[in-house]
Amino acid sequence: MGIRFNKKFSSFHLKNEQISYQIAIVDNKYLSHVYWGKAISESCRGSDFPIKDRSFSPNPAGDVTYGLSMNTLPQEYPGHNNGDYRESSFKLTYSDGSFSSQLVYDGYEIIKGKPAIDGLPHSYVSDSEGAETLIVKLKDESSECRINLIYTIFNNYPVITRSVSIENFGDESIQIDKLLSMSVDLDHSEFDCIQLPGAWGRERDLVRHPVYRGVHRIDSKRGTTSHTYQPFIALTNPHTTEDSGEVYGFHMVYSGEFVMNTEVTEYNQTRVQAGINPEHFRWTLNPGEHFVTPEVVMAYSDKGLNAFSQTLHNFYQNQLIRGTYQYKERPVLINNWEGTYFDFTEDKILEMADRAVELGVELFVLDDGWFGKRDDDTTSLGDWFVYDKKLPNSLKLLAEKIRAKGMKFGLWFEPEMISEESDLFKAHPDWVLKAEGRQPSKGRNQYILDYSQKAVRDNIASQLKKILDEVPIDYIKWDFNRNMSEIGSQSPGVSDGEVTHRYILGLYDLLEDLTTSYPDILWESCSGGGGRFDPGMLYYMPQTWTSDNTDAVARLEIQTGTSLVMPISSIGAHVSDVPNHQVNRWTSLDMRGHVAMSGNLGYELDPTKLSVFEKETVKRQINFYKKNRNLIQFGTFYRLKSPFDFNNETAWQFVDLEKSQSVVFYTVILDKSNQMRPRLKLKGLDSNKRYKISSYEGLFHGDELMNKGVYIDPPLGADQKQGSYQLNGDFRSTMIKVEEVR
Ligand code: DGJ
Repeated sequence: MGIRFNKKFSSFHLKNEQISYQIAIVDNKYLSHVYWGKAISESCRGSDFPIKDRSFSPNPAGDVTYGLSMNTLPQEYPGHNNGDYRESSFKLTYSDGSFSSQLVYDGYEIIKGKPAIDGLPHSYVSDSEGAETLIVKLKDESSECRINLIYTIFNNYPVITRSVSIENFGDESIQIDKLLSMSVDLDHSEFDCIQLPGAWGRERDLVRHPVYRGVHRIDSKRGTTSHTYQPFIALTNPHTTEDSGEVYGFHMVYSGEFVMNTEVTEYNQTRVQAGINPEHFRWTLNPGEHFVTPEVVMAYSDKGLNAFSQTLHNFYQNQLIRGTYQYKERPVLINNWEGTYFDFTEDKILEMADRAVELGVELFVLDDGWFGKRDDDTTSLGDWFVYDKKLPNSLKLLAEKIRAKGMKFGLWFEPEMISEESDLFKAHPDWVLKAEGRQPSKGRNQYILDYSQKAVRDNIASQLKKILDEVPIDYIKWDFNRNMSEIGSQSPGVSDGEVTHRYILGLYDLLEDLTTSYPDILWESCSGGGGRFDPGMLYYMPQTWTSDNTDAVARLEIQTGTSLVMPISSIGAHVSDVPNHQVNRWTSLDMRGHVAMSGNLGYELDPTKLSVFEKETVKRQINFYKKNRNLIQFGTFYRLKSPFDFNNETAWQFVDLEKSQSVVFYTVILDKSNQMRPRLKLKGLDSNKRYKISSYEGLFHGDELMNKGVYIDPPLGADQKQGSYQLNGDFRSTMIKVEEVR
């Protein structure tokens, strides 16, 4: 177990009980990828790649095996302009203007545990026995720079993380035009590619297509990961399903501009790469300096997509998320945004809080509009002091009053933005992110603050800290409502090509400061819903507002797509009013509740407008959720029926770690007449245990529930009298609770 270097065969084997990853040094120089997949025995050979001279594939100079070519050799970190016509993994421009590079092997180091990546979010182990790290040292043949490939293998996960560092030990500056975090060459192309593209209001659609000849790229040029693509791709066998087949997943721990490529070559090899997007990136590496790339998580499954998701859920839950709320149950919240938008007074908020507490809500979140002179989205971003017209009795008093009712108090901020109509803009127009000589575009009427400047971050930090020190705040929603454009800094000496990455480093620096200075606050990340729902943000903030689209039907796909990579404890999901504000659809309150209970449950409506019946339903939902949230938020998640496969039906199941309790939510979008509901096969139970199911007669064996299944049409009975679920009609749902009987 762990990492072994085989001197005889010049090869590395990273291995745990689940996976193996093998690398060999070919001709004492060239680092070659050999294998990644299910754990295999120690190899009795190094590289097994059949070297053969192929036309139009050049051979490197020097004494190399006949036929060796960079164009065909499976590699780990290919160079630039060196006869490999596939995508390079890095491009450096040297002081003389040249840009060719060929890396050669220059030693290695194996260390216990996993070193931190300074300034960047990264997975971690709390005990150095939990992982081992290999650093492979590579040197550019004709320049004075060293590139280190950093691999960590974790003991208990089928996961390897990769990142890269570069150091300039020469006397001249080097320009980094491109420095990806990882590259790997797989030896065939019989793969499907799964990605999670989206847009505002329909984030993380699950799209699957065969890989094809040429380069397929997903990326961000928006300064942030964005709604458009998740920094994730997976390659699967064509026949991989939720329950069987191989999955090779790549997920970047980064919140800025990224690129992910798959490239299928003329020899049907597949190159996969991920890293900072070179599109806007130019970094000057001066003599003596070094640069580290973000990390990429590479997870493998030979048991299909659901097991793959469970690996990422556990990995992020245990090895990425930090702080007080890592394993702490998340409170049921109410957020006033869709209930009032900007139009509220202190009295209105207190009235909403009174009704919410009666329903069992535990946290009141005051959203946008409480600061500066903010009556709409045209003003005040950057002026983080209370708007006394709306809240004349101070924010502190409001928070105290809400807390006195028995709820926690949370507040919305959008700290990376600035409105032209703000005191901050008047004082510091030079703090706006803007390329030299260009007029910055507005998005949602606002500009972006230049977080690459420390003075800017310090100002925002001190404004926020002033409030956090004065007001009892339990929760913060950190929003980000536009993408970058005309990217540049007005600060002297910062070139445009460094700004997006320096911005993200600045953001991480501020988040590290704030989240560690106020460790008891629950931080929720947001970007017009789920526009920055990435592992980088998860390192600082354990949950994210998944989408501004709160329609229960739309959420089936959004939350299913999100669940492919993100743990349930990170998925914010709210019940909102009908007709829904985004799609104008009427869905049942049961369905809205069941969908929202499948994440961190919240309500986003005006509770003073609920009918008596609705109040009773909401009370029941909250009561049920509180009893079961531990297993929902931190248990094992199964996609029994995915809306991407079944269209009209979705079924999600949550099982506790002891396999003694489980909750299943089942939804139907459009009804058909005279339908019999299906027998649903449950998962993750103990075959040898006996279970009872709410509102069903008698007991069930675990193996019976998992193999034969259970008809989901709830029998008319006692539970229905207490207000159970109608499965007839459109937009309906039901829920079953499965409990072990000893
Ligand atoms: C976008 C967020 O996603 C919403 O939930 C809300 O907070 C608005 N911003 C407020 O401007």
